Amino acid sequence: AQRPFVLGIETSCDETAAAIVSADRQVLAHRVLSQIDDHAEFGGVVPEIAARQHISHLDKLLESLMKDADLGFDDLDAIAATTGPGLVGGLMVGVMTAKAISTASGKPFVAVNHLAGHALTVRLVEDVSFPYLLLLVSGGHCQILAVTGVGEFTRLGTTIDDAAGEAFDKTAKLLGLGYPGGPAVEAAAREGRAGRFKLPKPMVGKPGCNFSFSGLKTAVRRLAEECVAVEGVLTIKDRNDICAAFQQTLGDCLIDRLRNAIAMFRETAGSGAFPLVVAGGVAANSYLRGRIEALAEQEGMRFSAPPMSLCTDNGAMIAWAGLERFLVDPAINDMDEAPRPRWP
Ligand code: KG4
Ligand code: ZN
Repeated sequence: AQRPFVLGIETSCDETAAAIVSADRQVLAHRVLSQIDDHAEFGGVVPEIAARQHISHLDKLLESLMKDADLGFDDLDAIAATTGPGLVGGLMVGVMTAKAISTASGKPFVAVNHLAGHALTVRLVEDVSFPYLLLLVSGGHCQILAVTGVGEFTRLGTTIDDAAGEAFDKTAKLLGLGYPGGPAVEAAAREGRAGRFKLPKPMVGKPGCNFSFSGLKTAVRRLAEECVAVEGVLTIKDRNDICAAFQQTLGDCLIDRLRNAIAMFRETAGSGAFPLVVAGGVAANSYLRGRIEALAEQEGMRFSAPPMSLCTDNGAMIAWAGLERFLVDPAINDMDEAPRPRWP
């Protein structure tokens, strides 16, 4: 493997994760510890529980990670951690741990924005050069960005209410599918018929590329109530058909907004076959990936997405974004950066 070697730590939500990546795009080791079981009974992430779990597990996780890579902290070139946005308790655990390793080993600390991590991950696995158009769809965010360099983003659109992943999670909760909702709704949708129910498509047809999903969630609730009123219970068939309609409608919204974004992007970037990248947890959805890939083909763009395992939160995306920042500025040291719950 080729230096630099960068350790990345991710603790902004409910995954305790870390990885080491190298300049030649190898993942030398990676570990993800999901807290899904700890939060499941509450139907969502409980910040206080998340922070305590990160404290309990991060040191042991790092010990195993270094063993997997057969490296010591002194062999690293930089230590990166998610500094925000996210749940502040968890962020503090990751940032303080990274700073401690950085201080002990004398290697620089690199602060990484979680969204920049999602945005740059595709470059860990593929030759995707700047500029590219990015749809970032996760549990906390839904944005369209022009990515023009490391740390250079222009936001073209964002959600005015819920994030796309949040819409999946809330739909799942309404339909009794548990948490996290994305994979469960996708599985149910695969068994359902999308054409049976019609859902509203907020923002579709309007100029610009902002999103809105809260109306979709309300419509799902109403549909489920109507089904229960007719049949006494929500049958599996109803549930599957609602999931299929929801997923298709959300896909229609993403595609409509992306079409406008491509036109906006082309105003400055030009007419070339630029990459169209989708990233973040919702990018793990095969149906939506397929729709966006088809759109890229129609619009003369090149579709790229990280592999599914790198779409949901992980350490490699933070290590890679840290490595990219370190390469741009080898004298970097972000010791003064503190955890930031909000960091646009
Ligand atoms: O990026 P991520 O792991 O965490 C945040 O930064 O938010 O995204 C998690 C979100 C959750 O809302 C989850 O339901 C959603 O990604 N998700 C999916 C799928 N897998 C995860 N949504 C739709 N389909 C999936 N297969
Ligand atoms: Zn994320």
